Amino acid sequence: MDEETQLSRKTVLKAALAAGVAAPVALFGGPALARTSVAAGAVPELTPECHDGDEPTIEQTEGPYFKPNSPERTNLVTPGTQGTRLTVTGYVFGLACQPVNRALLDFWQADVNGAYDNVGYTFRGHQYTNAQGAFTLSTIVPGLYPGRTRHIHVKVQAPGRPILTTQLYFPNEPRNNTDTIFDARLLMTVRDNGSAKEAAFDFVLNVPQTPTSTPSTSPTTPPGDTTWAVGTVYAAGARVTYGGQGYVCLQGHTAQPGWEPPAVPALWRAG
Ligand SMILES: [Fe+2]
Repeated sequence: MDEETQLSRKTVLKAALAAGVAAPVALFGGPALARTSVAAGAVPELTPECHDGDEPTIEQTEGPYFKPNSPERTNLVTPGTQGTRLTVTGYVFGLACQPVNRALLDFWQADVNGAYDNVGYTFRGHQYTNAQGAFTLSTIVPGLYPGRTRHIHVKVQAPGRPILTTQLYFPNEPRNNTDTIFDARLLMTVRDNGSAKEAAFDFVLNVPQTPTSTPSTSPTTPPGDTTWAVGTVYAAGARVTYGGQGYVCLQGHTAQPGWEPPAVPALWRAG
């Protein structure tokens, strides 16, 4: 894939997801912004980026502490839980950088003292992505234990697809340099939020997708010649007129102010 195509795909992805993630970002104070470095005063990006290229997230060893049948929950913190509060947010994408709905994420980690609960299910839980491919995990920063750097274990699985087992890491950890399992490609973006921490990581699964297809959960507009209008849901292939010119939709999205066809070549081409 050439560079131009990659840039175009990324732009399309951002545009397509912008409407969907706007509410959660506002709701949770914007942990999704953590992945983007923003100069002071600049307008931050509100939407995630898929990994460049189509490389799936790498696999890592499961380790000795996985337990099946974890409870379904997004919050691993209970009253009395010790440790620095941590929120991990992100998206699960397929090979074409489109969100994977109902992907299963099963997290497990050590407690503040570096111990796993091998009797019960403390700091173990599974959840599913929403229609935007998004997930949120409320937990604590895991403690260290001998031989390893700080990490969170996770299994990720798109419906009907193989399980990806991997681990997520924290930047600026001294042991990252000596842990032989550590891989910088699995570093989360982490920032402070008061006394808590907010982390972000996006997974890419080996799930075939057609770059021009729309997420299965998106409503579609029947093809036809209509006048472009804000708020309309356009499917790939939809035809509109704007300013007397005809355009073909390249990627399903909900039209926003500023996304007029001539202004967003990633979403519309003349035709
Ligand atoms: Fe571990």
